[in-house]
Amino acid sequence: MFKLSEDQEMIRETARDVAQEVIAPLASDYDKKEEFPWKSVKQLQELGFMSMMVDEKYGGAGLDTVSYALAMEEVSGACASTGVTMSVNNSLYAYPVEKWATEDQIEQFLIPTISEKLGAFALSEPDAGSDPAAMTTKAVKDGDEWVLNGNKMWITNGGAADYYVVFGITDPEAKHRGISTFILKKDDPGFEIGPKESKLGIRASSTTPLTMDDCRVPEDRLLGQLGEGFKIALNTLDGGRIGIASQSLGIGQAAIDAAIEYAKTRQAFGGPIARFQGLQWMIADSTMEIEAARLLTWKASEMKDNGMKYTKEAAMAKLYSSEAAVRAADMSLQIHGGMGYSTDFPIERYYRDAKIGAIYEGTSEILRLVIAREAIGRF
Ligand code: CAA
Repeated sequence: MFKLSEDQEMIRETARDVAQEVIAPLASDYDKKEEFPWKSVKQLQELGFMSMMVDEKYGGAGLDTVSYALAMEEVSGACASTGVTMSVNNSLYAYPVEKWATEDQIEQFLIPTISEKLGAFALSEPDAGSDPAAMTTKAVKDGDEWVLNGNKMWITNGGAADYYVVFGITDPEAKHRGISTFILKKDDPGFEIGPKESKLGIRASSTTPLTMDDCRVPEDRLLGQLGEGFKIALNTLDGGRIGIASQSLGIGQAAIDAAIEYAKTRQAFGGPIARFQGLQWMIADSTMEIEAARLLTWKASEMKDNGMKYTKEAAMAKLYSSEAAVRAADMSLQIHGGMGYSTDFPIERYYRDAKIGAIYEGTSEILRLVIAREAIGRF
């Protein structure tokens, strides 16, 4: 895929305008105050960007995954915290709900998140991150209700979201085939949202633990079939990894742009430092790496749009983009010198924000395992 369609170009332009004019000016302040970026999120809801791929018949924008990747890159270059909020609502909440929900569940839990409310995805636990099959949250049927008990951790949009896709064990004997998926509401009895984590980066985004203490919900909160939860989680994460790859592209490109601007204006030894080849090569390497990451991300997106299996491609896109973004942010900070270390310039924020891309929605190590299994097979 080398040429975007006119519609995709238009989405990119629209996203760039809102990212630069509305979201970027707010980003530093939200980050410093660790305040959830509601104004930016509301703006994206108005544009339909929080549910970009949801079918138009439900009020979504009905766009393709490539358009989503383009918009995610622009938004994340302006504010990576807003980017992850958008990614989780689109990829980890709206996608599984639209795919596995009944019409009644769509009415109750998807449609409100199109332009007003937020959703979250609760898989990880204190002792089950890379290995979600080791989760201990349990869901037991009691009459016509489910009773959930357990703890979730690192939940993006925790507290900000009204609805949560939650995974729990319904049949302990069946191991990963005994995991099921539920939709919980913020105000369900026995469902508690813990305090917001203070983080190295994406500090404005809301990350919280969740506790379910005899949390009783009606039986129709089961999403998909009983025991189908692990597949729902991993299939959902394939798409989520495209979102995070795009977030990393945004951060990496913003870091490169900042390096170029600084190198052209900063004077040393009688002229702008951009004339030194040592710096030019640093910028060249990052430009090449981010472009390669972009192509991997677009390829995975297009494969998803064409209904192909894209597990390996999404893993490669996220792994490569997130690591390239970390290198680009490091390169840019180095070019900024002392100025880059100061909070007066956005590069220190890009540097902090870039790292999470290599951790959440599958660490780089887990993604290498996924790629190797797909490439070599199991033996
Ligand atoms: N899609 C659908 N099903 C899949 C799948 C996929 N991509 N990959 C595997 N499966 C299925 C397999 O076919 C298998 O099915 P059967 O039982 O029918 O045979 C089943 O899932 C188990 O597969 P594996 O044996 O491969 O499972 P595993 O236990 O070895 O784990 C793993 C595989 C790759 C390590 C996986 O657990 C994984 O991806 N871990 C990382 C989890 C992760 O990304 N967590 C992020 C948390 S969410 C987050 O960060 C969000 C946020 O807030 C921003």
